[in-house]
Amino acid sequence: MSISIKTDEEVEKMRIAGKLAADVLVMIEEYIKAGVSTNDLDKICHDYIVDVQDAIPAPLNYRGFPKSICTSLNHQVCHGIPNDKKLKNGDIINIDITVIKEGYHGDTSKMFAVGTIPPYAQRLCDVAHKALYIGINQVKPGIRLGDIGYAIQHYAEAQHTSVVREYCGHGIGVKFHEDPQILHYGKPHTGDLITEGMTFTIEPMINLGKRHIKMLGDDWTVVTKDHKLSAQWEHTLLVTKTGVDILTLRAEEENWRDTLD
Ligand code: MF3
Ligand code: CO
Ligand code: CO
Repeated sequence: MSISIKTDEEVEKMRIAGKLAADVLVMIEEYIKAGVSTNDLDKICHDYIVDVQDAIPAPLNYRGFPKSICTSLNHQVCHGIPNDKKLKNGDIINIDITVIKEGYHGDTSKMFAVGTIPPYAQRLCDVAHKALYIGINQVKPGIRLGDIGYAIQHYAEAQHTSVVREYCGHGIGVKFHEDPQILHYGKPHTGDLITEGMTFTIEPMINLGKRHIKMLGDDWTVVTKDHKLSAQWEHTLLVTKTGVDILTLRAEEENWRDTLD
């Protein structure tokens, strides 16, 4: 396999898919409250993607995944399967949306708080969010993949959190998961060179406790081994001539660079 460089026409389609995925996260926010089940959220997102956006929810039937979105609650790291359990006050939840529009994928996720959450949970969500931005801020032609991973790991560990190693960001385009793998840990000046026209995700999973994970019996849901909280944020990116465009940016994040000191 090799890294695909997108043509201008492909970039246009990636922009459209990215915008649609971001719009789903904006749309779903008002529904996230105590008493709603993750199946309810799955149905609302499914119907919005299919009926309003005229797009396809990529997770549905992807390698046998049974639902249209991933919902990862509290100590769940990623790939949580929506079910009938209801959200409760104090929960944190990652909603991960991937849509396909005109054959191209847009992939993005964010953390939501259910009601009032404890300060340590808020802090973890904030660290994971900043870790994503720090990774994105590295991206420009000429850097290497290891520079992204190093920046994320260095920041997260300085905050006394840990970085999950087993799952990574990925190239994205006609395929959901393309080359290259974008590790969220690593060494500076190592790995493949980043070049203009690449599209890939960064999606660090940051744990409050140790980095180790285990897989549940459903063969999808990944949880922390120590059952402490985990948080993740994800964007789909385009490498431009001079830097990076966030294809899944939401209006609330317009000033994302200001959050980096
Ligand atoms: N959206 C996830 C990612 O960021 C992948 C989910 S695969 C699924 O790569 F099958 F669980 F949907
Ligand atoms: Co992804
Ligand atoms: Co995703």
